[in-house]
Amino acid sequence: MGRMKGRVALVTGGAEGLGKAVAARLAQEGARPVVFDRDAEALARAAAEPGMEGITFRQVDMMDGAALAATLAELEAEGFHFDILVNNVGGSLHTPRDFLEESDADWERVMGLNVTATVRTIRGVLPGMIARGYGRIVNLGSKAGRYGSLFTGANYVAAKGAVQSMTLQLAQEFGPHGITCNAVCPGAIHTPRVIGLLKERMSDAEQQAVLNAIPVRRAGRVEDVAAAVAFFAADEAGFITGQLMDVNGGQGMSS
Ligand SMILES: NC(=O)c1ccc[n+]([C@@H]2O[C@H](COP(=O)([O-])OP(=O)(O)OC[C@H]3O[C@@H](n4cnc5c(N)ncnc54)[C@H](O)[C@@H]3O)[C@@H](O)[C@H]2O)c1
Repeated sequence: MGRMKGRVALVTGGAEGLGKAVAARLAQEGARPVVFDRDAEALARAAAEPGMEGITFRQVDMMDGAALAATLAELEAEGFHFDILVNNVGGSLHTPRDFLEESDADWERVMGLNVTATVRTIRGVLPGMIARGYGRIVNLGSKAGRYGSLFTGANYVAAKGAVQSMTLQLAQEFGPHGITCNAVCPGAIHTPRVIGLLKERMSDAEQQAVLNAIPVRRAGRVEDVAAAVAFFAADEAGFITGQLMDVNGGQGMSS
């Protein structure tokens, strides 16, 4: 699995959950990943896991634009020139599902983490990709942003919709520079955090009914998402850009 040998990758929000699985998968494929996360303890736990030896971990709060820019500049000075960028950080931040209960602050936090942090990271990394004439940008969209959500609110759905639409435009604009931009759109992936949120917002019977309606009859795993990200991040996916890949067991489909 050396198809990403020599490639330098940045994975945001990668100390836990989907991002951690993505970083591990890219490392297995031969890439040299850097992980950003704000949680020092989670970073230390991830760094100590088997298979994570070749990964560089940096503590940074992705909501802090100045800290993000400074960390990217430090890494550039240390010789990290990113070929692959996985904009993974995001989430619904436990804000209400009911639209009428979502405050301005709930909208701002969710748009800030999913959209603004992604815009800033891309802005920070793109000039180097353009200069080198090569890049693979993979954004994390969501089934929520594609088809609506059963357990998160309109703020999260709108934020992921924005990320997904921006993906198409970046593909248009930067394709001539050898840069692709695609999005992976997972359904509910059963991480401990999502299992907790589902328990809070849906009964056991409702959850079972959802699983029964998924064509492959199971919940998603972090490895399912990591495999899809690796597909877009590989050199050989250079003719595929501006695409949204559903990773949801067939729960949402479009032609
Ligand atoms: N888990 C799912 O079911 C699911 C489904 C569809 C899409 N997604 C998307 O996939 C991505 C990853 O989801 P997840 O469930 O693994 O996320 P998560 O909530 O488990 O968080 C992953 C990591 O992000 C870090 N993080 C949070 N805020 C941060 C900040 N301000 N700065 C730096 N790091 C921060 C956390 O410390 C954590 O280590 C998100 O964009 C999410 O919207 C997830």
